[in-house]
Amino acid sequence: MTEMALAAPWFEAPLTGLLRRELASAMRFDAVSPAELAPAAPASPCQLYVHVPFCESLCPFCSFHRVQYRQEKAQAYFEALRREILLYHDRGFQFSDVYVGGGTPTVAPAELAATLRLIRSLWPVRTVSVETNPNHLTEEIFDALLAAGVGRLSVGVQSFDDELLKEMGRYAPYGSGEAIVARLAAARGRFPTLNVDMMFNFARQSPRSLERDVATLRALAVEQVSFYPLMSAASTRRRMQKSLGQADPSRRFDYYQRILQALGGAYEPASAWCFSRRSPVQTRSPIDEYITHQDDYVGVGSGAFSYVDGRMYCTTFSLNRYRRMIDDGQLPVTQSKAFTLGQRMRYDLLVRLFGLSLPYSYVEAKYGGRFWWLMAPELAAMRLIGAIRAERDAIRLTPRGMYCWALMMAEFFTAVNEFRDQMRLHIRDESAGGYSAWGAEESGCAGSRQVAR
Ligand SMILES: C[S@@+](CC[C@H](N)C(=O)[O-])C[C@H]1O[C@@H](n2cnc3c(N)ncnc32)[C@H](O)[C@@H]1O
Ligand code: SF4
Repeated sequence: MTEMALAAPWFEAPLTGLLRRELASAMRFDAVSPAELAPAAPASPCQLYVHVPFCESLCPFCSFHRVQYRQEKAQAYFEALRREILLYHDRGFQFSDVYVGGGTPTVAPAELAATLRLIRSLWPVRTVSVETNPNHLTEEIFDALLAAGVGRLSVGVQSFDDELLKEMGRYAPYGSGEAIVARLAAARGRFPTLNVDMMFNFARQSPRSLERDVATLRALAVEQVSFYPLMSAASTRRRMQKSLGQADPSRRFDYYQRILQALGGAYEPASAWCFSRRSPVQTRSPIDEYITHQDDYVGVGSGAFSYVDGRMYCTTFSLNRYRRMIDDGQLPVTQSKAFTLGQRMRYDLLVRLFGLSLPYSYVEAKYGGRFWWLMAPELAAMRLIGAIRAERDAIRLTPRGMYCWALMMAEFFTAVNEFRDQMRLHIRDESAGGYSAWGAEESGCAGSRQVAR
């Protein structure tokens, strides 16, 4: 690729500004009494997201719901998690696909395997995907995951550049770029899908370093690669700036194009930031936790989100309250937000087209003809900037649209991050009167440590 950096497209600033305002309102949740409001089981099976908030080391850029790993705490958490899953089973929920994210779900492999076994004993699950870190790519953990039916393992790498790994605090806990390559090579072929999570647009990430990362991935020939643009939240901004420097958003487009070009030929887009290796054999596996084939998904665990029948739900971020509510036989949902019809449609537009296409049959079955006139301004604007094109059976993203959608998804996650920040503010109050067995809670906000997804 040329040394000249590509300028960001003209629509980037107005698009992100507009979206930020829309998302700020969409992500304003209300506190709810769980006795009054918990999701009702949808008629058909949906996706189950399981959140495991523990990490051995807390990365400065991360605003997911994550806390410092402690063995006893994790064990008690997994026990509560299994009881929460049973509560959903008692309420008639059915799950067909499972995504376990974090945090680092593999911190307690035996507990994770027991939880997956329980899920499999309750429902005929088709796919199981689990997130992990490079230090957990060991034979022992592979065996535990394979025995529990895991078909997709997603490994957080971020970069193979040792200087960047040191800046992001991942060199010491997860090893050098070279060590990570060796571990990934050992993991390749063990699971139907091995995904590697990468990030781009670190302040001190040069185009060369990024292109070296892509070349390393191509040589490893893993089945899937996800490249996330670096995102932030109010709670992480200062820490990120201190350790990683100030990222320049105007380089995002150039870096994204470099990734597309460097992956080209070997990988093809599965979503706006996830790429699958071209292969004559197609395996069916979930792309990532944000792209589901079902409309509804249920999140279990502290800090997990659900979307059921046009309503978003969020469980408490307080580990103490989480356990207490489950002990009381309640679903630990504490916040909820009913989307308006327009918000539901925009959400579908965002999520479906992030997965590259919006089939007409899907829209017609769900909304009928009113979708087209209610979403006419959004669709017209997207066509005007050349982001989408109408084909015979579906609306599809154009190459330019892929960047647009990566931007929009990044804005969506930034709004979710801001929401998590708000939720963390309640942790202290929520955990008052908590279980002594849990000890003091650790929260990433206000100077201490924290978690979340
Ligand atoms: C939340 S982590 C959970 C799995 C595992 N602990 C790990 O570190 O990969 C999943 C992925 O989210 C991405 N991620 C986390 N924080 C991010 C941020 N601020 N901006 C962009 N991507 C981020 C990273 O690529 C990370 O691998
Ligand atoms: S969940 Fe966040 S803090 Fe934990 S290892 Fe992954 S990126 Fe780092």
